[in-house]
Amino acid sequence: MKATYLGFLASLVFLNAQAQHKTIGQRADSIIHLMTLEEKIGQMNQYTGDWQATGPITPDGDKQNQIRKGMLGSMLNVTGAAHTREIQEMAMQSRLKIPLLFGLDVIHGYRTTFPIPLAEAASWDTAAIRLSAHIAAKEAAAAGIHWTFAPMVDIARDPRWGRVMEGAGEDPFLGSQIAIARVTGFQGTRLGSTDAVMACAKHFAAYGAAIGGRDYNAVDMSDQTLWNVYLPPFKAAAEAGAATFMNSFNSLNGIPASGNAYLQRTILKGDWKFQGFVVSDWGSISEMVNHGYAKDNTQAAEEAVTAGSDMDMEGRAYIGCLAELVRSGKVKESIIDEAVKRILVKKLELGLFENPYKFCDSAKEQSQWNDAANLQVAKMMAERSIVLLKNQQGLLPLSKQTKTIALIGPLMKSVRDNLGFWSFAWPDDTTRIITQYDGIQKKVGAGTHLLYAQGCGIKDTSTAGFSEAIQAAAQADVVIVSVGEAGNMSGEAKSRSNIHLPGVQEELIKALCATGKPVVVLINAGRPLVFNWTADHAPAIVYTWFLGTEAGDAIADVLFGDYNPSGKLPISFPRSEGQIPIYYNHFNTGRPAHGDAPAPYTSGYLDLPNSPQYAFGYGLSYTNFSYSGLKLDKNQVHSGQDIQVTVQVSNTGNYDGEETAQLYIRDIVSQPVRPVKELKAFQKVWLKKGETKTITFTLTSKDLSFYDNDLHFSFQPGDFKVFVGGNSQDVKEAGFTLLDQ
Ligand code: NOJ
Repeated sequence: MKATYLGFLASLVFLNAQAQHKTIGQRADSIIHLMTLEEKIGQMNQYTGDWQATGPITPDGDKQNQIRKGMLGSMLNVTGAAHTREIQEMAMQSRLKIPLLFGLDVIHGYRTTFPIPLAEAASWDTAAIRLSAHIAAKEAAAAGIHWTFAPMVDIARDPRWGRVMEGAGEDPFLGSQIAIARVTGFQGTRLGSTDAVMACAKHFAAYGAAIGGRDYNAVDMSDQTLWNVYLPPFKAAAEAGAATFMNSFNSLNGIPASGNAYLQRTILKGDWKFQGFVVSDWGSISEMVNHGYAKDNTQAAEEAVTAGSDMDMEGRAYIGCLAELVRSGKVKESIIDEAVKRILVKKLELGLFENPYKFCDSAKEQSQWNDAANLQVAKMMAERSIVLLKNQQGLLPLSKQTKTIALIGPLMKSVRDNLGFWSFAWPDDTTRIITQYDGIQKKVGAGTHLLYAQGCGIKDTSTAGFSEAIQAAAQADVVIVSVGEAGNMSGEAKSRSNIHLPGVQEELIKALCATGKPVVVLINAGRPLVFNWTADHAPAIVYTWFLGTEAGDAIADVLFGDYNPSGKLPISFPRSEGQIPIYYNHFNTGRPAHGDAPAPYTSGYLDLPNSPQYAFGYGLSYTNFSYSGLKLDKNQVHSGQDIQVTVQVSNTGNYDGEETAQLYIRDIVSQPVRPVKELKAFQKVWLKKGETKTITFTLTSKDLSFYDNDLHFSFQPGDFKVFVGGNSQDVKEAGFTLLDQ
């Protein structure tokens, strides 16, 4: 025994001496060489702490002991420099002193809450999104966190699914650009820097296509849709260097993602050469029993590890069953070694072996805690995320000298709702979060009189508060009504079958409009909502999503013209739940409905147009933009040649402003068929009032390529259309032919 121990100590000394001369992979191998099977499996095990619950908790009074015995590789939901240090000290009492990884759902900010990810996506501003992720990483890293479970890069075409709030919407191209921005924002220049955290691209894969929009539900889709629509943002995240991936709760074509070797081994670790590790979702390995895919935890563990799931989040299938599976020869120890190596490599890259406490720096945590610069970025991001849906007769922006403004609605004075789901509750939230009321109050001049009435609660079915609201409106020059969902009505396990404005809120808007006063409607939500009456009758509508800590200031900036709104919808807004799934990049049919009133025997609804209420890419500004002179530098191209697309964008309105020019293509004839439009490029362009700029897009062969039914990624010769405009519907059109060779 003594000899073994001395031998072990000698190897540690040897390891340290050799550390500088070895690659990280070799160092990981040397560590694995010293580990018992149980210690290896411990590295593949992750438990939650008790800071917050983000899933169903399994009572376990023995966690601390297990940490001291090296039975744990990572914890989630443990945060704060002091607390993470305390837990890391326990890990340092283990035989091999392998540091723990601390993971947390830092989805849209840590101390400073940024807009929900779907809102940020509406900015189409990848530089701003990268910065927002970087600040979230900086604040979290200063609190001892090594790893965020973000970005969620799931494409979502179904707004009933509560998690649409957490992604970048419905488009694979926009989704991929944002995936890259978020991964590089979180991870900074290199892993190991103390202002960066590891990113985790999730949920691999196709979680966003849960049948019926019901969270955790099964997914059934063609390979072609998987590869062309759902996988691209994951591929982009892997190529951008995402350190980790998380698999998903759903089954895909009958195989749960956690046990899916095709996804994890063939595609991710094989084709894409992903070098990081894959963590399961919370309990998703043992949930394979509920799926009916494994008869018990033992079989679930075998399926998952064989399929390439490296770490078991809160499932206890690995810690409970893997050792026996290896001993009985059902699972090769080399599979365990491979998973452990992937995990250790990340710990080594983070520099935790040199200093397990390098992220537990209370002084740094303190300095990040109230960094006003972070709030400034949150405000900038919030402004850019707001989408102006309607502005009849230039009602907005409002004058700061308006005499009397009635501020109405259940979200006008809300505090935490502004943060949306996946945000943290801090003790000083009530003073730190800028409510919409406060933001407006700060913005207007001393001569402006503000009246307030709630009107109704978010889910109220009673109209008892309407008369007070109507009275306030009657005395005002303008009414601003803030309606929508509560912050926790979208998010995980927050699917809704009815996505209309909840309760009597639309009735409240009707009552306010009936006063004859100009009404500005602010809609707070984590998803597209249905609000047809408002869309048709209210003169001004601002979609605010959930904008985070600085929501009130950002909204006030937009309402009073200190920021000219520039957001564009990253997801289509349906007219009715009956249109779902609704997305702009759909295939054509053999009997397409032309226009909104379909002729008999065409593909449409008897009771609804096919078009969305608001289209993908749509969003207004206080100024107007027009497009002209769309030109391609060639009408015929050979494979491998680029095409330059130029267009003039003019600001024809009365304000300076920013436009997002969007380029779509259509591959007119191909086998299999391609969508009626596909986003392939976008550019943000700032134009002074009266200014015109020429912008150039370059289309490459890659942009014309897609996965065919044999999953070959290539293009097919023939005619293509090119569309450019300020949204997916109102576009200028040109075309070219792609020649055979
Ligand atoms: C379950 C969620 O699906 C996942 O996104 C999250 O990261 C984990 N819980 C941890 O909270």
